This record gives sequence, structure tokens and C-alpha cells, in this order.
Amino acid sequence: MSETEAQRAGTLRARAEIDLDALRGNVRRLRELAPGAALMAVVKADAYGHGALACARAAVEAGATWLGTATPQEALALRAPEAGLPADVRIMCWLWTPGGPWREAVEAGLDVSVSGLWALTEVTRAARAAGRPALVHLKADTGLGRSGCQPEDWAELVGAALRAEREGLVRIAGLWSHFACADEPGHPSIAAQLSRFREMVAYAEAQGARPEVRHIANSPATLTLPESHFDLVRPGIALYGVSPSPELGSSADFGLRPVMTVSASLALVKRVPGGHGVSYGHHYVTPGPTTLGLVPLGYADGIPRHASSTGPVLVEGKWRTVAGRVAMDQFVVDLGGDAPPEGTEAVLFGPGDRGEPTAEDWAQAAGTIAYEIVTRIGPRVPRVYLNGSA
Ligand SMILES: Cc1ncc(COP(=O)(O)O)c(C=O)c1O
Repeated sequence: MSETEAQRAGTLRARAEIDLDALRGNVRRLRELAPGAALMAVVKADAYGHGALACARAAVEAGATWLGTATPQEALALRAPEAGLPADVRIMCWLWTPGGPWREAVEAGLDVSVSGLWALTEVTRAARAAGRPALVHLKADTGLGRSGCQPEDWAELVGAALRAEREGLVRIAGLWSHFACADEPGHPSIAAQLSRFREMVAYAEAQGARPEVRHIANSPATLTLPESHFDLVRPGIALYGVSPSPELGSSADFGLRPVMTVSASLALVKRVPGGHGVSYGHHYVTPGPTTLGLVPLGYADGIPRHASSTGPVLVEGKWRTVAGRVAMDQFVVDLGGDAPPEGTEAVLFGPGDRGEPTAEDWAQAAGTIAYEIVTRIGPRVPRVYLNGSA
């Protein structure tokens, strides 16, 4: 960030700094951990709140050859010429509903997921209209119980896809699945899902499918289960330097660095007497004369209301705690008598280098997972990109 950018960022009400060098480093680290597989950077949900386009570019610069999104609209936005991504980057999306933009997806050369016959019917119709084959990844439900084709229905789906392939309407580019409990080491479902995946892949290949990529590994599997890497790994949260779960290890244990730092400028600092109620409902009452700092971020910005009275904030090197309720646009911290000037930085979370809390600390404070903390930081918080491409 240049000096003027830094000054501008410092005068914002609040900001989410996105360190693209950290993201590039995380991509390189994940590639080291899965040396035999290509890497799909999962950038759905605006790259878990980090900004899809900037993160997609940085991930590709660091060696990701695939990008993954949930919705077709997210994928089409990345494929648009103005996104400026290399044309040979594969972009896959997996959350389809009937009547979706299949034809646009086929024409844009997106890779699409197919979990059932209805989707195969719609995609083949689109391929016929577009005059080119659709790149299809057949999804197996190996035990997650969410999307994907049940083992009992697999033969029918594979058979129909192979017939469509012979007609030149689809190319079976991938066979894939998704884990339920990869973040719980030793969970019996992991081995069960892997063996079912192998069986379902073997069946499709025995019938004549020749997929370019077989894939099942999300972040926890990429980090801890080499036998799940197959041809392609699909990390999301690890790209952003956040550990999939504290039980698995910290991001530092895996050589990953958090990418997002959220901070705000104190909007007001004031002295109050003891016994003063703070914020809606007066769930915090000052224990004695003290100072209060007003942090101009609230649940409209993605700060969880569940972190009322628990969320940690670093102000002038000291951890403070949300005093009382998080409101829509603001919350208060008890500064214990310190009186920093208005405009002083309050850091909610970041990599932790400066002693600030991490997204995991906020997850713990709010009774959720760090995925939700970073992803829900809202559009009203400007993203300030550090270390963008030249
Ligand atoms: C199909 C699929 N693959 C990969 C991922 C990435 O998961 P994670 O963020 O745990 O790496 C997700 C995210 O939920 C997903 O839905």
C-alpha cells in the first residue's frame, strides 16, 4: 500500500485490509501440501468476504489453475472479459437450480456440476442450443447428504451422461464429491466417503468415463489427508489463512497466514461515571468511573450480535471487550480509564502479529466458526487491498 493509500485507509470509518501477498503465500503452501494435484481456489461468496476478483487474480498468479464458485452468476462474473483473468483458467460452479443460466455457462466455457438427471437434461439442451459441449462434473453423494447423486442412482446418471457425451453434448470433465467431517480427524465418515468415492469413480470409469479430474478435498482434507487429493484439491478457507477448525491446528501450524484485518476508527471517547448503563438493554453497567470508546461497526457490517459482551478488540495494544450489545452500526468498548483520541484504531481481528485478536477469537466469542466471521463482513466495510498485482 502506498503512503497515500495508507492515509486514506486510516481515515475510513472502518476497513477490511486484504493482504494479497498472504493469499499468494497460502496458495503456494497449499500446492506444496498437495504436490500431485492441481489447485482450485474456492472464491464463492465474494471469496469468503475477501473480494472475489482480487483474490481470484492473486490465486491464479500463485499457481491456482481452477477457480470454484457456488452460483453460476459468481462464475460468469469471473469469466467476463473485464475480470481480466487468463482465458485458460477453468471456472467451476456447483449450485444450480432449474432454469439456471445453463446456456450462458456453456458458451462461457464454465465447468458445471451435475447431481441429477434434471440438471443433465437442462445442460444438454443448452449445449445443443450453444452448439458446443458442456463441461460437466458428475457429483456423487458419498455421504454428505447434501447435493450429489446417491449411489443407487449413480448408474442411471452415469449412463445418461455417457450417452450425452457420445452425442457430443457434454464432456465428462470431472467426477467429484464433498466431505462431511474432514475437519474432525479420525471421524469414521472420512474413510467411508473415500472408499465410496473410489467405488463410484471406478464404476463410471469402467463404463467409459474419462474424467480429466477427480476431486473431493476441501481445506481440511487438503491439509491433513493426502490420500484424498486425487487430481485436484478445492481449498476455500485455507486460502484466506484461516484454519478450518481449531482442533485441527492453528493457521500458523499449517504455514498459513490470515489475509483479512478488520479495524475501525474510534468515533467517540468519553468519560462516564460508575453505574452507567451501556448500549441497548443496559446489559453492561460500568463498574466505576471509566472511559468508553465507540466502535462504528455493527451487525449491519457483519459483526455478530452474538458477540455482545464477549467480542475482543485491540485498542492501543490492549485487549478490550464489547461492552453490552452490538447494535446495527456500532458497539462500545470499556477503555478502563484510557482516553485515546477519536480516530484511534480499534482492531477487531487480523493475523495476530500486533497482538490483535484473530477471526477464530471472534468465532469463539460468538459461538460460531471463523468461516462465518470473515464471510459476513458486509459490503459497507470497504476492502483495502494490499500488495495487489503490479
Ligand atoms: C463443494 C465445495 N468444495 C470446496 C469448498 C471449500 O471448503 P473449505 O472452505 O472448507 O476449504 C466448499 C465450501 O464450502 C464447497 O462447497
